[in-house]
Amino acid sequence: MAKQRIMSGMRPTGKLHLGHYFGVLQNWVNLQDEYECYFSIADWHALTTKYNQTSDMVDNVRNVMLDWLCAGLDPEKSTLYLQSLVPETAQLHIYLSMITPQNWVERDPTLKDLAKIMDAKRENMSNLSYGLFGYPVLMTADILTFNAHLVPVGIDQVAHVELSRDIARKFNNTYNCEYFIEPQPKLTKIPLLKGLDGNKMGKSFNNDIKISDNEEITEKKIKTGITDRNRIKKDDKGNPLNCEVIFDYWKIFGSENEVSEICEGCKSASIGCMECKKRLAAKVNETLKPMRDKRIELENNIKLVDDIIHEGSKKAQIKACEVLEGAIDVVKMFK
Ligand code: TRP
Ligand code: SF4
Repeated sequence: MAKQRIMSGMRPTGKLHLGHYFGVLQNWVNLQDEYECYFSIADWHALTTKYNQTSDMVDNVRNVMLDWLCAGLDPEKSTLYLQSLVPETAQLHIYLSMITPQNWVERDPTLKDLAKIMDAKRENMSNLSYGLFGYPVLMTADILTFNAHLVPVGIDQVAHVELSRDIARKFNNTYNCEYFIEPQPKLTKIPLLKGLDGNKMGKSFNNDIKISDNEEITEKKIKTGITDRNRIKKDDKGNPLNCEVIFDYWKIFGSENEVSEICEGCKSASIGCMECKKRLAAKVNETLKPMRDKRIELENNIKLVDDIIHEGSKKAQIKACEVLEGAIDVVKMFK
């Protein structure tokens, strides 16, 4: 039986952090064997908010691909591509934009949030650019370009995928066909990795650890992590359950034995927070070492990375052309 198709994407905002790795990438890596996967570096989506800050676009695109490759996404198994190198998606976007009622995009809650975050000075929706307004329609075009069955996303993107279903259905109804599959969101149980300050991990909060950080920086950052606030002196007994960052990281990076050892040491005050963090940093660095080594190797061969981006995009275009042609037929355009 043919494999089901999966499509997902990420905006190129810079080097990826451990939240991306444990929240998204690990999941994608695990889907590669069971599904026909299309993963997009969504550079047009980045332009919806950063249209006037493009000087680091090329670097950002390469950095995302570097992080993907060192995390285990495999261009032999999956199609890893750059959105803007698959112009069929833009063409499909045009057709979809015709049938999408304006109030469907206006209602999109994620878009409202995005607009708020993007520019606090912009007070009302009418100030949004036309392109940003079309964000969820463009995302729908990404998904429908491959007629994907499933879209692995975080909870924050589910509303967008729901809209994609509505648009696929509206297309089918409008042209009296069953051309597009209604894509389903595929939610993952994400072990939520908080930032070192206890807030959501994000580069703009300066509380993240990057896949590409070196060992020294990793240790330095981990030392800033919040701990059990009631444990002030080294001989105060601690409670790991109140240590929402460092102990949570231990649960991800440590073995069962190590976690219970830390737990006991903390409760009995036989281990101090500094020592605990130092050991955690060593553990994190050990875990990330193979990825980081691979990343450095690839950084020294950017030509190869660029080739992978080009090849993946060409591969994506094969399916994209086929789907677009069919859609154009269904709409009954002159050929
Ligand atoms: N909007 C998604 C995000 O910000 C990224 C994205 C672009 C995407 N195109 C997509 C996700 C298609 C899933 C499917 O995270
Ligand atoms: Fe947290 Fe470790 Fe300090 Fe205990 S010893 S409070 S687990 S950092």
